[in-house]
Amino acid sequence: MSEAAMLRLEQVTVDFDGFKAINDLSLTIPSGSMTVVIGPNGAGKSTMCDTIIGRVRPTAGRVLFHGEEIQRLAEHRIVGRGICRKFQTPGVLIGLSVIDNLAIAAMRDRRWWRSFTRAGEEEARAKAEAVLEQVGLADRRDALAGNLSHGEKQWLEIGMVVATDAELLLLDEPTAGMGAAESSQTAQIIRTLVGRHAVLVIDHDIDFVSQLEGHVVVLHQGALLREGTLDEIRRDEEVAAIYLGRAK
Ligand SMILES: Nc1ncnc2c1ncn2[C@@H]1O[C@H](COP(=O)(O)OP(=O)(O)OP(=O)(O)O)[C@@H](O)[C@H]1O
Ligand SMILES: [Mg+2]
Repeated sequence: MSEAAMLRLEQVTVDFDGFKAINDLSLTIPSGSMTVVIGPNGAGKSTMCDTIIGRVRPTAGRVLFHGEEIQRLAEHRIVGRGICRKFQTPGVLIGLSVIDNLAIAAMRDRRWWRSFTRAGEEEARAKAEAVLEQVGLADRRDALAGNLSHGEKQWLEIGMVVATDAELLLLDEPTAGMGAAESSQTAQIIRTLVGRHAVLVIDHDIDFVSQLEGHVVVLHQGALLREGTLDEIRRDEEVAAIYLGRAK
């Protein structure tokens, strides 16, 4: 088993009462990589994420994490193996400070039993301080999460995923509701995660996608239409016809 194939979807199909939201999809995500999934509305991007994290069960096919099948595991077991999805809004605890939100997320680490020890709590606090810097919220450390701007809340949510130290981070539309400057900052934050984590980002905004410099996967009608660099994808006439042409 090659270490490079950290996550592998093998001929995955997700059938919702006869409608194939995912259709015979095979995809490999290497350790420490950046994969960006694009595709028109309804292409199956979020369903793919739901399938990886165990919220949706494939009707056919397998999801392998380090060579082991995970597609029948409960979501918390998959999280325990080291896959984490950006918490759904409102994922932040608005009555707690930024740093406390990060510390709580760090305690959800898969070594959760450590959080019941003094050393475990100190470890989580130290992790929270490091992540605070990484997501650019150092000057908002003691602010209540409820008082953050929309963009800052999104960065806190990204930070909470990072604080779990999961090996694979799933970020579904992390720039939703952001302007261009905030999106750029988000791309910058996400780029720093690669290497220590593999990151799978779903987004519509091609400017943002171009700043991520990742391997791009195009989904269309639940299937893989193309994968490659963004330049290759941009030059692809079929992709332009179904997606990029529409987005511009
Ligand atoms: N639980 C469900 N039951 C039935 N159909 C579903 C369910 N979840 C998603 N779908 C359908 O599956 C298709 C894929 O949806 P999905 O949310 O994965 O698309 P997406 O690529 O994330 O789209 P968007 O860009 O709008 O977020 C859509 O047609 C959607 O209506
Ligand atoms: Mg979606």
